[in-house]
Amino acid sequence: MTGGKTVAIVGATGAVGIELRDVLESANGIEIDELRLIASARSAGTRVPFRGDELEVRELADGVFGGVDIALFAASGDVSRAWASPAVEAGAVVIDNSSAFRLDADVPLVVPECNPEQVAERPRGIIANPNCSTIILVVALAPLHRAVGVERVVVSTYQAASGAGLAAMEELRSSTRAVLGGAEPPAPEALPHSLAFNLFPRIDVFRDDDYTREEDKMLYETRKILGVPGLAVEATCVRVPVERSHSEAVTVELGAAMEPEAARRLFADAPGLVVVDEPEHSRYPQPRDFSGADPVAVGRVRVSRAFERGLTFWVVGDQLRKGAALNAVQIADLVCAEGSGTPS
Ligand SMILES: NC(=O)c1ccc[n+]([C@@H]2O[C@H](COP(=O)([O-])OP(=O)(O)OC[C@H]3O[C@@H](n4cnc5c(N)ncnc54)[C@H](OP(=O)(O)O)[C@@H]3O)[C@@H](O)[C@H]2O)c1
Repeated sequence: MTGGKTVAIVGATGAVGIELRDVLESANGIEIDELRLIASARSAGTRVPFRGDELEVRELADGVFGGVDIALFAASGDVSRAWASPAVEAGAVVIDNSSAFRLDADVPLVVPECNPEQVAERPRGIIANPNCSTIILVVALAPLHRAVGVERVVVSTYQAASGAGLAAMEELRSSTRAVLGGAEPPAPEALPHSLAFNLFPRIDVFRDDDYTREEDKMLYETRKILGVPGLAVEATCVRVPVERSHSEAVTVELGAAMEPEAARRLFADAPGLVVVDEPEHSRYPQPRDFSGADPVAVGRVRVSRAFERGLTFWVVGDQLRKGAALNAVQIADLVCAEGSGTPS
């Protein structure tokens, strides 16, 4: 795919859509001739800035994908299920942030630091962007897996309010203000419970086996991205009163024992990762420090007390950026580089 591109964002007014616009504003991989912003009738007509211009948001409707090369979907799974095929039929490659197609065998699930070659295998013209917590996890697992194999993973997440969208982020702010003012927090709408001075071990719906759908996503998507069908991934996903950036406490059992210092070197040399690990100077990754940042940060690397050949560490990543928008734009870069002979 060569030449300037017409790129569409579906869900352009949401948390991921706004971040996609921000990443594209400075992206140098894709030459953009036109950016088409699409949302529901609620925000059609709104004008938003892009590269010194003002773009009008259009309603998702028949004909909206005409001439689009890359369609970045960041609305709901239902919207993707209804509109991804019409976008492909109109000639676009769809990169989808929802969970609609992630586990479909004929849709690649791609994190460019792990499995970039799979971008090319897209018989339906759709590439899925993984779950945000999963992206942050696999960027850290990938170098360990390449070196000695990862055999088992136990992960607890500390997920920011904005992971549930703009409305949830606003709900965290308003309920916190209410409690600070001495009032009861208002009844939550975007989240299942009030998050002000609180946290809760539930993200997405519960399954029959008492795990949540978010915990299932971390298991099945990690297996698919790393190409290890039997990998055990035990996740507990928790919503915490942080505005932005997810944190994860991870313990892995490896194929061979590894010293923490060797792991730090692997992490430091891996694409998309930085190491912040100086506990003696109180330096370890924190969500505030990595909000708006591209890399995933890893620290607190130590020998596991639970697993043979085990390591425990702490990972932080901005779930709106690497966990969603940046990963999708990196995939778009790979698509645009096809046929140009230029590795992206
Ligand atoms: N938030 C995250 O950290 C994150 C990370 C990874 C993946 N994701 C996934 O990305 C997607 C978007 O999440 P978000 O957090 O950005 O949600 P959000 O803040 O609630 O934004 C939703 C967007 O979808 C649009 N939309 C809703 N219904 C629509 C319809 N019927 N037709 C067209 N547009 C419609 C909204 O437009 P209006 O302004 O018109 O309502 C808005 O632009 C979801 O599938 C989510 O699971 C989110």
